[in-house]
Formats: sequence, C-alpha cells, structure tokens
Amino acid sequence: MKNNTKLIRAGQNKKRNAGIVNTPVYHASTVVFDSMAHMLDAQDRNLKKREKNLFYGRRGTPTHWTLQEAISELECAADTFLTPSGLSACTISILGCVKAGGHILVTDSVYEPTRNFCDSFLSGFGVETTYYDPLIGAGIAALIKPNTAAVFCESPGSHTFEMQDLPAISKAAHAKSTPDQPIMVLTDNTWASPLFCQPLNLGCDVSIQAATKYVVGHSDAMVGTISVNDAALPGVANAMSAIGVTLGPDEAYLATRGLRTLAVRLKQHHFNALIVAEWLEKRPEVKRVLFPALPSDPGYEVWKRDCSGACGLMGVVFHRTSYEAITAMIDGMELFPLGFSWGGFESLIAPSNPSRIVARTARPWTEPAPGLRLHIGLEDPEDLIADLEKGLARFNQAL
Ligand SMILES: Cc1ncc(COP(=O)(O)O)c(C=O)c1O
Repeated sequence: MKNNTKLIRAGQNKKRNAGIVNTPVYHASTVVFDSMAHMLDAQDRNLKKREKNLFYGRRGTPTHWTLQEAISELECAADTFLTPSGLSACTISILGCVKAGGHILVTDSVYEPTRNFCDSFLSGFGVETTYYDPLIGAGIAALIKPNTAAVFCESPGSHTFEMQDLPAISKAAHAKSTPDQPIMVLTDNTWASPLFCQPLNLGCDVSIQAATKYVVGHSDAMVGTISVNDAALPGVANAMSAIGVTLGPDEAYLATRGLRTLAVRLKQHHFNALIVAEWLEKRPEVKRVLFPALPSDPGYEVWKRDCSGACGLMGVVFHRTSYEAITAMIDGMELFPLGFSWGGFESLIAPSNPSRIVARTARPWTEPAPGLRLHIGLEDPEDLIADLEKGLARFNQAL
C-alpha cells in the first residue's frame, strides 16, 4: 500500500471505535475491573504481553493506540511509543539504549537541546558522548569503542542541514555490534516526517519524530514519537515504563487528526519551499541555501536516494551579514512571524547562528553568521517572495 493511502487508513479500528472515523478522546486514569482475575489478566496482557488493552491511563487508551499503530505502519516499525514532546522522544530513546559506563556517538549537527541533554545530564549518569562529523558515513566504525551502545543521527542536521548516510552508518555500526554490547542506531527523522523517510528500512533501529512539527501540523500541540524495531523495543519500553511519561489524550487526538492530511500539506510545503529556495539562490546577497531538495545542495543525492520528498524548512547563508542586518530584515516581515518551532501551516523566520548556537566540535561550521532559518508554509509562494524581497532590501540597507 502506498504511504498516502496508509496515512488515511492506518490505525483506524471500526470495531474498537464503534464505527467512529476519528477515534474519540478517552480521558482516563482509573480503569475498573470486574474481579481480581480480570485485573490480573489485564495487567499481564498490558505489561508482559504488550497487548493494547485498557489497564491504567498512563499505559494508553484507544486514542493513543490509533496514533501508535498509524505511526508504526508509516515508519515500518515493530511498535511506537508516544511522549509529551519531540525532545523527550529524543532523550527517552537515548536512555533506552545506553547505561552507566557506556558511550554514545552523536552527530555534531544534532538539535541543540539533544546535545545539552548528552552534555549536562547523560554525563552525570556516567555515559560518555563523542560528537562525530555528520558526513562521516561508514567512517563511524573508527569511532566505535568496546562500550559504544548507540549512534545518534539527525538527517538533515538542525540549522546546518547536512544529509547523513544512514544506511552506511547503520551498516558500519551494526557490524561492530555484539550480543554483549549491542549498538543501536537512532535517528531524529523530524525533517522528512514519517511520510518521506523510513529510517528503519535504511538500517536504523529507532526513528524519532518531533510530531509537534508536521504530524500535528497546526502549531497547537506538543507530541513526540519513538518508533522501534524488535532489537530496540525492550530497552525503549523499559525506559518509557520506568520514567513514567505519557502523552495527553487531547494531544494524541490532534496528532492523529493532523496525520490524516500530512500528504497534502507536505506536498504543498515541498512545492512552495522549492520555489522560494530557487529564488533565494539567485539573490546576490545569498551565498548558500541549505535545502537538500535543491540540486545544488551537497546532500541532494543522498536526499534523492533516501527520501521521497522534502518539507518546508531551510537555512540561508549570506556572503556578508551582521546582527543589525538580520534584525532589520526579521523585524519588518509581514508573512514570516518570528518564532520557535516549525512544521505548522504557517511560514516562520528565525535567526540562525550555528557557529554560536551549536558548539560544534567534530566539524566546525565556518559559514558567515548569522544567517536565517525559514519555514515555508502553505501561503502562496509569490506573496512569500514579495515579503522576502522587501526584507532583503532592509537587510542590505542595514548592512
Ligand atoms: C529536529 C528537532 N528535533 C526535536 C525537536 C524537539 O521537538 P519539541 O519542540 O516537540 O520538543 C525539534 C524542535 O524544534 C527539532 O527541530
């Protein structure tokens, strides 16, 4: 079945939901049982057999199961866990794969809060982090130590947009994996979404979504998803259960509702973003547009091989830039409000300074900064270009 069709049908369960198309929101903590035998059976089925049956609110309700099953189908995963934010999906999946005395390899282009978690939190639990060049590919093998338990990827990278060779990294890491020291390969798959890339089919063990972005798609809910293969399932299930996080049912509902229209939205994001990227690329002020779907992007071939589409997020690097010029541009934008996050229906703008924001150690970012991060929304690209043109006039005047 094609992914566009999966998006519409996945996770729907006519019998479970009495024929209602969108699984209703179950607000639940307590679930009552008919007898001791019923309770013990429900406990056993939920905790041990991992069946989707009602046991206790934190362990999930039909509202959660619909989203879990749908994301699992898209990501081609054995199962999917739901968390209350994209960042918690990154951190909990790491906690499910490493233990004290272990070592994790993390891409130098990783989302900065994930990096903070490794530096300020994991280190306190005796887990060592080494950052690696995002373009390392099979060369990752040389960095693997006897205690390496995980390799964390993010493709393309936050702010700098390097595409990673996930098949080569996974193959090299798994070749060094042993029964005593298994190595899990995790990737933050938010940019491509579960629609355009299936990292588990490329050899990864865990695929993470900040579903806050395109899955929810309307900038109104925080959701994380962790999709696992059979190898990663026990560790991540243990971390989820021990930490005790759960996704609110309203957020689960909004994520499923967003998912149904992901294909039409992303098609338009991709279309609009390419028009804007091609226009920006021709501007004399612009040195580089960081967008893997542009044929001029160094990651284009990997993107074409591993992804079936692109989203609306890109970076802009200028030949000459200054804080004042970036401020003059951003402050006067009409259709690009300044704000964190991305993946909603609307365009957004933010300053981007990878050399300062991300204290890269393995492959320093040497492009002129600050630059811009643009999220291209569903507006008409002609209007967006007109707004950017006026913004660049302010940029040039303030330079
Ligand atoms: C690549 C990436 N991963 C994870 C996150 C974290 O997601 P959330 O904001 O839902 O915690 C973000 C948020 O911007 C992100 O850009």
